[in-house]
Amino acid sequence: MKFYVTTPIYYVNAKPHLGHTYTTIAADVGRRFHDMKGEETFFLTGTDEHGDKIVKAAAKNNESPKTYADRISDLFRKIWPELNVSFDRFIRTTDPDHIAVVKHILTKIFDSGDIYFSEYEGLYCYDCERFYNTRELIDGKCPDHQTKPAIIRESNYFFSMGKYQDWLIDHIKKNPDFIRPERYRNEVLGFLREPLEDLCISRPKTRLTWGITLPFDKNYVTYVWFDALINYISAIGFPDGKEFKKFWPYANHVIAKDILKPHGIYWPIILKAAGIDIFRHLHVHGYWNIDESKMSKSIGNVVDPIYLKETYGTDAIRYFLMREMSFGLDSNFSENAIITRINADLANDLGNLFSRTLGMFHKYFKGVVPKREAPDKPGFELDLKSAAITTIENFCLSMEHFEFHKALSTVWEFISVMNKYIDTTAPWELARRKSGQKELTVVIRDLLEGLRVVSGLIYAVMPETASTMQTHLGLDRKRPFFLLEEISKWDVLSAGSVLPKSTALFPRIDVDRIETGNETSGDSPLPDIKPQIEINDLLKIDLRAVKVLDAEKIKKSDKLLKLTVALGDSTRTIVAGIAKTYAPSDLIGKTVIIVANLKPVKLMGVLSEGMVLAAVEDDGCAVAITDRAVAPGTPLR
Ligand code: MSP
Repeated sequence: MKFYVTTPIYYVNAKPHLGHTYTTIAADVGRRFHDMKGEETFFLTGTDEHGDKIVKAAAKNNESPKTYADRISDLFRKIWPELNVSFDRFIRTTDPDHIAVVKHILTKIFDSGDIYFSEYEGLYCYDCERFYNTRELIDGKCPDHQTKPAIIRESNYFFSMGKYQDWLIDHIKKNPDFIRPERYRNEVLGFLREPLEDLCISRPKTRLTWGITLPFDKNYVTYVWFDALINYISAIGFPDGKEFKKFWPYANHVIAKDILKPHGIYWPIILKAAGIDIFRHLHVHGYWNIDESKMSKSIGNVVDPIYLKETYGTDAIRYFLMREMSFGLDSNFSENAIITRINADLANDLGNLFSRTLGMFHKYFKGVVPKREAPDKPGFELDLKSAAITTIENFCLSMEHFEFHKALSTVWEFISVMNKYIDTTAPWELARRKSGQKELTVVIRDLLEGLRVVSGLIYAVMPETASTMQTHLGLDRKRPFFLLEEISKWDVLSAGSVLPKSTALFPRIDVDRIETGNETSGDSPLPDIKPQIEINDLLKIDLRAVKVLDAEKIKKSDKLLKLTVALGDSTRTIVAGIAKTYAPSDLIGKTVIIVANLKPVKLMGVLSEGMVLAAVEDDGCAVAITDRAVAPGTPLR
């Protein structure tokens, strides 16, 4: 078997955001899973660069469409490796080989008689770049842009889709997994209950020149969707390329529900009309919403993936995205949800299992893998080996169907089984008894083996963490540790090998420190002095003395104060976890020190635009207040 996976090619009218990131990481995870199966794989992504949308965006930036498309396309090309996504080709619809294939397909369909020329009057939405029929409009307006479409009368080329309608219905019915999950299969069958209208596949050059000229009429360019969909075959060398022959029969397209119709209806029909086999699967996911609205550039609520990477780390973001969204359904995005996942699943469940196991291993076996000695009386209630086998089977089943959330939750069930195994076998008790030594070798070896299985299974989603874990388990880096065939073995670690000291996989994100003024309990010792830094690192932090104009308690929090501070002529809001020590009135009028260039974060629904400096003790804190007033905003040097 082979595996070919594609993402939509993204419009270059917006910078890459979290929505694009989710689809692209999902495709990468799908691809890596098939790498784990030992298959040959191909990953395609790219940019969609023709059409009116792009002309308008370029004009807004005072650039030519080509210069503008080059610039934004480059942002997409460069962002994916930053998120550990590795593609085999990055296609642009302005690439000459793509243009040649679009012309080839148009000629083929035109020659077969499925494209005809006709005058047409219809309702056109310029933002969608398509005609609407009245049934599709809501209150006479475009459902996506809430604008009234214009009435346009012009001569154009049309693609007769109707004659392929019954064939498509039949194909979808006979291949229940052609469109997944099922809700979207039903949605496409729903569209197909109405007669299909012919698709207008041209735009007159009098109206738009930024596109691929029709091979049979130089006065027209190709409709952007007809051009774009063809990328999936032009990128791999249709018609005669080696890659096309090898991978096209295994094509998997990944998209969100916004572009279901072009992929579920136009694309199979274009392929059929051109005499090309159709793709294998269409995987459709839902939207990432922010406060119930879709994240989109026009609403202005987009989340920057690089900010997320820099704040939380690539693996944590990949994990969060794949675990939090049930593939197919919408999900709400918030940074709180990321922090909760990191702390609960990564730092707590996985991180603790890893450090507990390796900690005990180093303590009891001095870092040398013991020989597995069958205990005199095995009798452990839990058998990690059979739990691992069931985990691998269920994991594979879910991954095969793009149910990444389920696959991960299966792995996390196994992690909790292992944590429970530690609690029930109590290795510290075994270590204390001379008669417990043999059992101790079994328990620790099985835990190490279980961690090895986990490290292999998470490879598709968290490649960096998988590799760190493998290093600490002393696995031979030359062996393809992520292959399912290798993962499925047991008792792989060789007795006598020496493992390196362990490391913390995921530090907890201490929101409490911000929100609560650090309430660590007990007599915690002073933290170690952090590693030395260069003066340039220090100069990146912009410290300012600011005057507190107002202060109030934040509702529902007994720890947070909301401060309004003066910085030069403007004011800022800063949320500080100091309410246990300070009443609002203690601070009003004082000059305090803040970090002024910290990225804003929302705390209890209030945007905090900086951080107040304070000396933090176990039971309270002391805010840094200057010993005399200075002009608000004075920098600290
Ligand atoms: N250029 C077309 C696709 C042509 S494919 C032959 C296009 N481009 S787009 O830039 O608008 O990208 C749409 C895709 O981006 C969605 O299908 C989805 O993959 C991703 N997403 C954009 N916003 C999203 C969310 N808010 N949530 C989830 N995915 C989203 O359409």
